[in-house]
Amino acid sequence: MNCITIFAPSTLESGHIKKLAAGLLIVILRLSPLFFPFAVAAQQDDGERLFRQRCATCHSVDPGQNKMAPNLHGIIGRAAGSLEGASYSGAMRSSRMTWDRQSLDSFLAAPSQVVRGTRMTAGVPTAAQRAAIIRYLESQSPD
Ligand code: HEC
Repeated sequence: MNCITIFAPSTLESGHIKKLAAGLLIVILRLSPLFFPFAVAAQQDDGERLFRQRCATCHSVDPGQNKMAPNLHGIIGRAAGSLEGASYSGAMRSSRMTWDRQSLDSFLAAPSQVVRGTRMTAGVPTAAQRAAIIRYLESQSPD
């Protein structure tokens, strides 16, 4: 009996706090879709900015335009080394890879380890930056 009288008030209080926390969590979860579009837009911006900084010196995403490196418009789903009019190393031509999210991620992490002998040496060591760049490339790849 003693135990109950001593612990009952504190149990009640922690129960209240839990309910309050649960309520708050529900409110946050309900509101999160409101913030989500902004988060997505920010990530896309980030990928585009990173692309401009890290890739655009050599690559374009405007259809048809090859700079010193192959055009990357529609790169998702394209066979590696297959773009007509682009100049490739023998290594890239014979790599037999198809570019998807996964292969792009490993290639960008360490280009010459994935395609030995590739002429592309610029890698992106940070996984989050690779993910943002790949999302941007996906947005430039009509399906
Ligand atoms: C200094 C120039 C340079 C930079 C910077 C560069 N690349 Fe490349 N990239 C190349 C060259 C050259 C090739 C062709 C490689 C080969 O044939 O071995 C290539 C090939 C590629 C390919 C394969 C294309 C195909 O048609 O198979 C992809 C994908 C690619 N680069 C993505 C990127 C991304 C994404 C970035 C930015 C993070 C980037 N590159 C930065 C020069 C560059």
